[in-house]
Formats: sequence, C-alpha cells, structure tokens
Amino acid sequence: MSLQSRPGHRTHTIKEALSLPPSTVVNLNGWIATKSSIGGIKFATIRDGSGYIQVACKRDRVSPQAFQDFESAARESAVAVTGTVREDKRAPGGKEISVTDFAILAPAEEWPITKSAVKASSSFLYDMRHLAIRGRKTAAALRIRAHIVYATFDYFEKEGFTLISAPTIVQNAVEGGSTLFGLDYFGRKAYLSQSAQLYEEAAIAAFGKVFIFQPAFRAEKSKTPKHLTEFWMIEAEQAFANQEDNMRLQEGLVKAMTDRVIKDCSSDLEILGRRFTSPDIPFPRISYDGARDIALKKGVSFEWGEDLPTEAERLISKEFDVPFFITGYPLSARSFYHMTEDINPRVTRSADLIAPEGMGEIATGGQRIHDYNQLMERIKTQELPTEAFDWYLDLRKYGMPEHSGFGIGVERVTRWVCGLKHIRAASLFPRTITRVKP
Ligand code: 4AD
Ligand code: MG
Repeated sequence: MSLQSRPGHRTHTIKEALSLPPSTVVNLNGWIATKSSIGGIKFATIRDGSGYIQVACKRDRVSPQAFQDFESAARESAVAVTGTVREDKRAPGGKEISVTDFAILAPAEEWPITKSAVKASSSFLYDMRHLAIRGRKTAAALRIRAHIVYATFDYFEKEGFTLISAPTIVQNAVEGGSTLFGLDYFGRKAYLSQSAQLYEEAAIAAFGKVFIFQPAFRAEKSKTPKHLTEFWMIEAEQAFANQEDNMRLQEGLVKAMTDRVIKDCSSDLEILGRRFTSPDIPFPRISYDGARDIALKKGVSFEWGEDLPTEAERLISKEFDVPFFITGYPLSARSFYHMTEDINPRVTRSADLIAPEGMGEIATGGQRIHDYNQLMERIKTQELPTEAFDWYLDLRKYGMPEHSGFGIGVERVTRWVCGLKHIRAASLFPRTITRVKP
C-alpha cells in the first residue's frame, strides 16, 4: 500500500466522499459518532465537521488488527478509515464506505454525556459544553451562526461599507451605566465595551460608511432566554443618512442573512427540525404607541415613556411571523445620543427590529444628534460625565453631518433563525450571569 492510501492520510472530507461515484477508494479522518452491529457486520457513523457518513467493517475484508481496532474503538475516538464508496439507500446520505483498513488515531474514554446524566442536572450539558458542542443539533446552530456572519461581511462589502475594529476596553458608557462591567486599568477605572457605536461615529468621517463585528459586554442582571453577558454585535453607521435610510439598511442585511441560510444551510435547518423561510422586505412597522396598545390589550400595562417590558415585547412579537420595526421610542427609554423628532421632542428617531414568534428584539438603531450644542445639553441634562465624552463631543465641531446606525445581536438572530428556546445555544461557550466556565 502506498503512503497516500494508508489510514491517517486523508484524501477526502466526508462531504466530498458523499458525492463520489461508487468504487472510489477514499481515506477519511473523523470521530466516531455512533456504533452498532448487525449480524457479523460492524457499523459506525463517522463525523469530520463537513458531514456524517456510515462505514461498514466486515471481518473478512480487513486485517485482524484493523477489525479489532474497529470493534474496540469507543465513541468519539479520532480515527482513520480506508475503504470504497458504495451506494446504499438505507445509509444516511445514500452512501456507505466498505472498510478495507482502519486505525485509531486518538482513543476516547467512555463518553460522559449520557441520557441519565443529562436528565439528572439541568446545567449538565452546559457544564460539559466543551464536549457537548460535538452534538448534531448544537453544531448545526453554530454553523448557521457562521453563515449569518458570512452573509453580513458580503452584504456590507457589496454596499460599500468599510470593516473597522474598535477597542473593547473603554471609558464611556454607551447604553447606560447600569450594565457596565468595570475593571481596574492600572489604577484608573475602565469598562468592557457595551457597543462600538461611538467609535463608529468617529470613523464615518474617514470612511463614510462603516461596520464592525466584535464582542459586546453587558452586566445584565436579566435571567431571560435572550440575554448573554458577552455576545457578538454587528454594528453599522453611515454619514449623510437618516433613520429611514437606517431601517432600509437593516432590512437589506437581515434579508441577506436569511437568504444565505436558506441557500447554504438547509440540512442544518433540517437537523434542527426548523421550518424557516426568508422574510420579504420591507418589514412591517408599528409605532411605540401602537405596540403599547397591543401590550395593554394583552394585559401587560406600563407607563408611556418606559421601555417595553420583556413580557410585552414577547407577546407583541408572537403576533407576527416576520420581523417588524417598533418605531418612535420615547427619549426616556433611550440612550443619551438619540435624535428626537422636531414636532415631538419626547420621541426619538429610532426603532427596534423585533423578530417574530416571541423571540423579541434583534436590533436597535437610530439617528444620532449631530449638533454640538444639542448633544452637550443632553449630556448635561442626563448628568453624564462630560470628560468621558469630550472626544465624542469634539466630533461635532468638525463637520458632523446627519448620520444613523444600528446594532444587531448575532446570537439573537441565530436564535430566531434556528428557533432555539434559549440564546445560549447560539453561542459556542455562552456567558450568562451564572456561567463563566468552560
Ligand atoms: O439595543 P442595544 O443595546 O443597542 C446598542 O448597543 C446600540 N449602541 C447599537 C447601535 O446603534 N450601534 O444592542 C444592540 C443589539 C440588541 O438589539 C440585541 O440584538 C443585542 O445587541 N444585545 C444582546 N444580545 C444578547 N445578550 C444581551 N444582553 C444583549 N444586549 C443587546
Ligand atoms: Mg436595544
């Protein structure tokens, strides 16, 4: 046997092998996902990240050593398989590999994630997340997340946006002081960034249109199925653009994301048992007042001016089967930088994009104050520390035009697209108020 065809030297990925004609000889590498035996034939399903394939090992087709290794290999062992491709209607994917040689590259101990262990503790799967991520459904959701991000980069590049990055160690609160993680920065107070928005506002004067993809941190006390303490945010900001332009941009992005998932991830959606269609744009719009009326009718009451309570948002979101905007949030429910309507200064030029089916907010965007005096006045009335915002104010002295932008949470979008009960399933290693390990 030539070196090329010995187990351990991969010739194809499993995805490639599944499309090869019968009788092709392949060397595959992967992990054993399942094992079984029927009569004298030993079966295994091998996984390599590109797909799953069934392999069948008969005693009379392989060396005694290879057969013994195949028999003894525990689930999740890393293995090398040599064999020929066979058509087999009963096999998942319609193909099977008839094994001619087999080797264990890295053995596995007995797999600790058992049905009874999962049943015994509700946190077990997340305590064991370093291993549990190998599961079919978990990996499917995380692959869909990856395609949502690929679509984002393609979309913004096509639309002429420049990718930037920004520090995540900062001195400014962007979204209010109550959700800041503080840290000691060589004797000075600093924080983990809640949003890159302020840096994007600086960057638009250099690039016109920018976007960013990076982690955001929130010391959210909320123990809900949509809150993480660390998550990935996609944010975009454009100069010479108002809130109307901003909402159109969000629609285009979400459409690009969902089209991409439909095109590239149909088998992952199937693994998740998720029936999902890409929504048409433009998305419906309702006003904050209209949303409040729906909430009141559904028995959730709150004062005009307060942010939508989580339960109200969930109930309103259940009324829709496509994403929709809630427009015109009161200033009292919004961060300091929001521009208000000329005719009603209590209402901001902002909107939340809400995913349907009870999933809730996936994006927040708005038009920013671009006038120096107006912004200074807002910072003062909200009693924010002017020193921390000096550079942000400074931007308003050097040609700051009308501008707008938004932030959209990657795990929130993934949760909606995949139909996940809890946002933590959309993160490889989720961080919540009760979890910083593994
Ligand atoms: O609504 P947020 O707080 O808005 C901002 O940070 C703006 N400065 C963004 C901008 O205009 N550039 O956060 C934006 C999005 C939310 O709509 C949500 O999708 C996600 O970030 N998000 C969270 N995702 C998971 N867990 C949390 N705790 C989140 N907080 C916000
Ligand atoms: Mg928001």
